[in-house]
Amino acid sequence: MQLSILFKGRTEQLEIDDGADLSELHDAAGLLFGLVDMTIKLIQRGKTLPTTGRIAAHAKPGAKLMMVASARAAMADEPRADPTVRGFEHDLADAAARCHEVAAEELGEWGDTGARRGEYRFCRLEPCTWQSFGTRAGTSTPHAFEARKLLLKLSTDPAVVAILKQREWVVGVLGEMDPLDDRLAHKTHQQGKCLLGYNTNQGARIDVRLRTHDLSGFLPYPQLIETLLHEMAHNMVGPHDDHFWHLFVQLKVDYLRFHRDLSASGALVAGRSPLAVSGVADQVLDVRSSVLLALEHDRQEGPPSQMQVSLLDGYLAATDRKRVV
Ligand code: NI
Repeated sequence: MQLSILFKGRTEQLEIDDGADLSELHDAAGLLFGLVDMTIKLIQRGKTLPTTGRIAAHAKPGAKLMMVASARAAMADEPRADPTVRGFEHDLADAAARCHEVAAEELGEWGDTGARRGEYRFCRLEPCTWQSFGTRAGTSTPHAFEARKLLLKLSTDPAVVAILKQREWVVGVLGEMDPLDDRLAHKTHQQGKCLLGYNTNQGARIDVRLRTHDLSGFLPYPQLIETLLHEMAHNMVGPHDDHFWHLFVQLKVDYLRFHRDLSASGALVAGRSPLAVSGVADQVLDVRSSVLLALEHDRQEGPPSQMQVSLLDGYLAATDRKRVV
């Protein structure tokens, strides 16, 4: 059968035998784009294809697949088909990769939300180094320690964790965007209006700008979450088109409903309400209005179109009865 593989904005056709295994498809897709020693993920209509099994059981002829590639080390503890045949080199590579990973026992403000277990998660956190700020005379800004704590809080927010698991998304690195890095500013300018963050190679890494413009502190947590949800939506959709904004809206609905239901369930985080820790107590009172406001604010093109409002109402109605916690 023939399949279309989309990678970094380029589409290539791939001819493969119907009876072939998905592992062969992953290898062939990587080779098609000249990728060596990379972990390949193939996504069909928002779902990650399994890495083994007959192709014909998972994809139809002519299917369009999106490919995500990441350095093997970053995905080192992804489950493999047969762990018993892994060699010593693999173990060394894994050990090296783990040094840079978030330790399983490291808990942030949210406590243990299961964020560090399982396949769908942020694999690593990268705050800006103190050198990055230390070279700027006269700046007084929170230490990288504090930035790392904030990245940990964002990546272990139980609503974010639930979204990653439900949508089967993996993000290699959650990094802090250096607000004064000209190179990055240029890059974000090219991508449009994402001045608060960017997504590299469909989730290989997401960088979020944490600090205020004058660097004196951090942006409010709910605002950082909004940026993070925006960048997570870029895992699936590159351009800021109607598909993108509808996905952003879905993530925002899911986020608010999760925290609303978690608080309603009586759960506490170190003695505090999850709504107090997430700072969205006011937003969950009227999820629909809050999401429309976020859409208008984030899209920066005036009030949402009638179509966007209808899509939101459709999603709210379709997911109304589903308890998310
Ligand atoms: Ni964007």
